[in-house]
Amino acid sequence: MSFRKFVDKRWAAATGAASVAATAAALLTLAAPGTSAAAAGLGGVAESSGRYVGTAVDPNRYTDGSYGTILDTEFNSVTAENAMKWDALQPSRGQYNWAQADRIMQRAEATGQMVRGHTLVWHSQTPSWVQNLSATELRQVMVDHITTVMTRYKGRIAHWDVVNEAFNDDGSRRQSFWQQKLGDSYIADAFRAARAADPSAKLYINDYSTDAINAKSTAIYNLVRQFKQQGVPIDGVGFQAHLIINQVPGDFRQNLQRFADLGVDVAITELDIRMQTPSDAQKLATQKADYQKSFAACWAVTRCKGVTIWGITDKFSWIPDVFPGQGAALVWNESYQKKPAYDGAVAGMGGTTPTTTTTTTTTDDGPPPGDGCTATYRIVNQWGGGFQAEVRVTADGPISGWAVSWTFTGGERISQIWNATASGTSGAITARNVSYNGNLGAGASTTFGFVGSGAPGTPTATCSAA
Ligand code: G3I
Repeated sequence: MSFRKFVDKRWAAATGAASVAATAAALLTLAAPGTSAAAAGLGGVAESSGRYVGTAVDPNRYTDGSYGTILDTEFNSVTAENAMKWDALQPSRGQYNWAQADRIMQRAEATGQMVRGHTLVWHSQTPSWVQNLSATELRQVMVDHITTVMTRYKGRIAHWDVVNEAFNDDGSRRQSFWQQKLGDSYIADAFRAARAADPSAKLYINDYSTDAINAKSTAIYNLVRQFKQQGVPIDGVGFQAHLIINQVPGDFRQNLQRFADLGVDVAITELDIRMQTPSDAQKLATQKADYQKSFAACWAVTRCKGVTIWGITDKFSWIPDVFPGQGAALVWNESYQKKPAYDGAVAGMGGTTPTTTTTTTTTDDGPPPGDGCTATYRIVNQWGGGFQAEVRVTADGPISGWAVSWTFTGGERISQIWNATASGTSGAITARNVSYNGNLGAGASTTFGFVGSGAPGTPTATCSAA
């Protein structure tokens, strides 16, 4: 059985379009490295460098206008805007309400998106029954909540914002009920409980107004350094980046880099860039440049894993409620039209308008049958001495893990892989799922990719479900 290339517009398999592609000669769009914004959305551009672009979601908006389509086609990561906060998940003691969080998980998994969990320990959106507990009970309830929530989604949520907004702007600890009742140790306790609950999840501390080098970001920097020295489990720092046009910090990249140099990942977790409303062409052009700067700051730092934009459309943003007269901070306007900020984001990721060449593909009898899943291997780009490949894994029925095997016969080597782990770099390769993309429903698919050196061959890839 020979190898088949086919049109694989990002996420197409999730909607059944892949089977259509298999029936006819089709067009394969090749773009310069990492720039296929038109074919793959923002998440597709990010994925080509092993990163993500995410959005904050509210399941109650799925059916509003183009919300669902943009969500599914533009992003490769999602964060629950409110549905995984304490008041949503455990409004009364011991009474968990999973419905909305589960909806987010199901849609993300069907689409092959990574999920960021937000957030376990925060002073806001935490019910009064928690705030009124004694110190002893509060510490136990904190651990119980972390354990219950993370266990439910174990292996399925890639990053958790374990503790959110624990510092004041002057670098002192926020005097929240957590701090007042439990003292400094509550943050380390929360991280330890989180690691125990799901060792595969990357554990983040998250805050706002920390995008520049300032007293607050330095306080978190010192905490992370201390945690590293003491062996407290922490994997990442989230920078919310609720910004204002014309005020993107000039030292954003430098700030991200100093955290990365401590040995943790970093991410921009809640990006929006607001302005006085109404918007006009000039403000939107400034906003475009600011989105570009923000994405570029992340892309310049190897350990910056991605950017989450805090919502899809200006129609639904927290900003006008909190900052009256301000808004228009997102990438799609209230009518779901892309704003100039979209191109700014693509440019910040090193992308440009795709320069496409078109090749006609061959059609044959399809990919090899798998054992519970099917793998489709394709070359998405190639250049002198190297290439980029993408492998789509589609589940025949529900599966909880997968392994894709193929053999390089022409001396190719993998130099960087994302969304999978590989058994080696040359010869016979087996790539396995990572924590957040092993669970697939029947017919659902996910992709992983890699950059290789050498001239790309056309290996036959076989898939086995775990
Ligand atoms: O669910 C209730 C609903 O029952 C009620 O009828 C309605 C009336 O106002 O309120 C609903 O709750 C709202 C909730 O969002 C869900 O829509 C709250 O009033 C509203 O305050 C809440 O706002 C959220 C805010 O966090 C709360 O602090 C925003 O949507 C959300 O975008 C925002 O996100 C935060 C991050 O979690 C942390 N970083 C800052 C960021 C922006 O504030």
